[in-house]
Amino acid sequence: MIPKPSNSRYEVAVVGLGYVGIPLAVGFAEAGCRTIGFDLDTERVRELQSGKSPLITVPPERIAAVTSRGLLTFTGDKNDLAQSEAIIICVPTPLRSHLDPDIAFILSAGREIGPILRKGMLVSLESSTYPGTTREDLRKVLEEKSGLKAGLDFALAFSPEREDPGNKKSILKEMPKVVGGLTPDCLERAVELYGKAVSKVVPVSSCDTAEAVKLTENIFRFINIALVNELKRIYTPMGIDIWEVIDAAKTKPFGFMPFYPGPGVGGHCIPLDPYYLTWKAREFNLDTRFIQLAGQINRGMPFYVASQLVSGLNELALPIQGIRILIVGVAYKPDIPDDRESPSYEIMNILHGKGAEIDYYDPFIPVIEPHAGPPWSGRHSIVWNPQTLARYTAAVVCTPHHGVDYAALAEQIPLIVDACNVVPKNGKARVIAA
Ligand SMILES: NC(=O)c1ccc[n+]([C@@H]2O[C@H](COP(=O)([O-])OP(=O)(O)OC[C@H]3O[C@@H](n4cnc5c(N)ncnc54)[C@H](O)[C@@H]3O)[C@@H](O)[C@H]2O)c1
Repeated sequence: MIPKPSNSRYEVAVVGLGYVGIPLAVGFAEAGCRTIGFDLDTERVRELQSGKSPLITVPPERIAAVTSRGLLTFTGDKNDLAQSEAIIICVPTPLRSHLDPDIAFILSAGREIGPILRKGMLVSLESSTYPGTTREDLRKVLEEKSGLKAGLDFALAFSPEREDPGNKKSILKEMPKVVGGLTPDCLERAVELYGKAVSKVVPVSSCDTAEAVKLTENIFRFINIALVNELKRIYTPMGIDIWEVIDAAKTKPFGFMPFYPGPGVGGHCIPLDPYYLTWKAREFNLDTRFIQLAGQINRGMPFYVASQLVSGLNELALPIQGIRILIVGVAYKPDIPDDRESPSYEIMNILHGKGAEIDYYDPFIPVIEPHAGPPWSGRHSIVWNPQTLARYTAAVVCTPHHGVDYAALAEQIPLIVDACNVVPKNGKARVIAA
């Protein structure tokens, strides 16, 4: 095993304090590891230092319980990373506009870490990415900036994150952790590190394999969601309710796993990660046909939902031009304040483009952040009451948040397109399943 650096103040440093990095840092600290969290975003660091949590899944009390014992600190100074035995990178991996991977955040984290890397340190990447990123891209930048050799002077590993946004029970300890190392020595160091905080570590033969594990998990989900989305579009004209079909099919105790249709796919992982493999496969002159097909179906869902609304208006002899429409839910998943890549915005764009007046209601997203772009950025959720609801001719339910009074919606708004199967069909509204 590569010997650890001596006199380290921290056992673990986490780079990137977002949806993945915060629970990870807190989880290591809860396991008794001296942990430091670093982010370039000084506002985020100040917020955490002052005891606030930006995540509903990690309440401030959990953070306070470990910061008060000196087990977790936060910093905006990258030089503090030099004091740690291991550095875990949890930075974003978006797509460029033509669906190509953008690993710029990983490379910039590598450029920050390289100059402070000491002999014996472990660097583990957790960001979802294509096979080869750790072994080729991250390794290159770390070696260039440190003058050290991966696998000899420092250990290098990849371990995919399995954060389940919104699931308050998905704590680090209970989630099996897949780990791949650049060399057997690197793997040994990474297994030892994660073994401190996780009850089950699953070693695999290489960083590339560990990267492929994450992509496979997300591609599996991406394709199965596309399948039920397609089945919904086939069964609906036949008068068959896809939700009833899935509920009955899932009583089969083997060989079937339920996935549910929706207005498209959102979030920072499922709509993006499959294209990381598509891009990498081209290097080997290979096509990812399942991924491409699933992508076409999933990306087409907002258009399908919008077309169902236009048909519903047509039945009421109403043009869409000038109609007031309420979008219910802009978060990409129920009960979370995360609207990244949300299909709601695509639906809003389509309907807005046809001349409708759009407002939204989302108890988890009171104001739309700049990343949604114009004209939605800065818009506020409506206040939910019968008078306000009565202003709309139509509503589209895009996110099945709990605690929303869908019966009240069906009493106040004449036409509802329900992409989530939550609106009662016995109210005054005409409800169209989409
Ligand atoms: N969100 C999820 O549920 C989830 C689940 C599994 C895997 N992932 C993967 O984990 C990775 C991180 O996702 P996330 O949702 O936590 O992202 P996020 O946007 O919530 O957080 C990333 C953080 O990294 C910081 N950052 C960016 N570049 C930095 C740098 N060079 N140095 C220090 N900090 C930097 C940002 O300021 C931000 O606070 C992505 O690859 C994602 O695909 C996410």
